[in-house]
Amino acid sequence: MRLEVPREAERLGANLFYGVQKVYEIDSGLRGDAELGEVDVIQRISYETLHDLTKRMAIVVPVRGERIKLLEGVLSGIPHHCLVIIVSNSDREPIDRFTLELNAIEKLVRFTQKNVILVHQKDPKLAEALADCGYCELLDDEGRVKDGKAEGMLVATILAKLAGKEYIGFIDADNYFPGAVHEYVWEYAAGFATARSNFTMVRIHWHSKPKIIDSSLFFAKYGRASVVTNRFLNALVGHYTGFETEVIKTGNSGEHAMTMELALRLSYASGYAVETQQLVDLVEKFGSNTTDPGAEVLRQYVEIYQIESRNPHLHDTSKGDEHIDEMIEASLRVIYHSPVCPPLLREEIIEELRRRKILNKKNLPAPPQYYPPLLRLDFERFAQHLTEQAYSRLLAS
Ligand code: GDD
Ligand code: MG
Repeated sequence: MRLEVPREAERLGANLFYGVQKVYEIDSGLRGDAELGEVDVIQRISYETLHDLTKRMAIVVPVRGERIKLLEGVLSGIPHHCLVIIVSNSDREPIDRFTLELNAIEKLVRFTQKNVILVHQKDPKLAEALADCGYCELLDDEGRVKDGKAEGMLVATILAKLAGKEYIGFIDADNYFPGAVHEYVWEYAAGFATARSNFTMVRIHWHSKPKIIDSSLFFAKYGRASVVTNRFLNALVGHYTGFETEVIKTGNSGEHAMTMELALRLSYASGYAVETQQLVDLVEKFGSNTTDPGAEVLRQYVEIYQIESRNPHLHDTSKGDEHIDEMIEASLRVIYHSPVCPPLLREEIIEELRRRKILNKKNLPAPPQYYPPLLRLDFERFAQHLTEQAYSRLLAS
């Protein structure tokens, strides 16, 4: 891959937020290819380097009732050596959609020999393991793992850690382009290949999102929720650095990856607030007013890369407009409730939510549900609950 070096970086405590980087070539050749004439503002990452990294990476696909054809396409786009972890929260009745997914995936595994772990979010074994390890925040009143994308991501992070993976990336199951999925994974690997820190995050900034407007294709640059989220996240960063900034372009990026070292240290927020909370948490934990982030993190910095993909991003758009409001509310709520959110920004968030009629005059944003870092989990103990599961052979790290 040929990737430009980040042109700007905002430093905030131990955080290094890099500006968006452009991809000049998705595949730039092998390790031994001539380096002569390379320009030093472009980094060339060999195919072998990217490929080696995929062996140390788990790719998580959260699923809830997606069309199986889309899921199959997504899986076909994930490079062969990644461990695929699918956490499904699809209905089991009246139609057992999970079994349909299982059958389709079993067939795909037979044809491709890919390593795939498929779990149902409501699998009692997962809940039992979480309860035994004292991580009860993730359980609902019936003692099962709660609904939500973030909740599925947390389960998957535990499984990826048990499988001994050093990197974890997330890709939504409703993507129409296997080629885009493939590119995202190479971009995750490219970010990790160029990072110096063990605490690194790579977030995908879509090149464009195709839409039909007046019977023609229009390639929109920004998502409707992201523009709002990014504005407030940038205001938060700017408040602490003292310089207005537009560095954050990936506030809601569902497609992102982290080193396991970083993934285990973050606190998460439920549902669709998860991606925004990751950035808010970085400001809280490793920003200038940091309390106890751990000396190693401070010494190494946390590197946050934002890479602009080349493929357009086309996902299932049948989920409706109210979903956008839901996402804006979820994102702004975590900024609002963060102890590092300055009072003025809180007021602006309230104004924004009221103007959009997401919040009425009497109410304030409701507090989000948070999940503590997974670092404190006893992973060996957790694994003991899964020894009978079909995928347990993939967990022996
Ligand atoms: N395991 C699990 N459990 N997966 C879920 C759940 C759940 O309860 N709910 C949704 N998912 C899966 C979906 O099937 C899909 O693969 C993925 O999570 C994202 O859900 P969507 O409903 O497609 O979300 P979106 O397209 O509106 O938003 C996506 O993009 C945003 C950025 O534009 C998400 O990735 C957001 O988190 C992201 O901010
Ligand atoms: Mg989607």
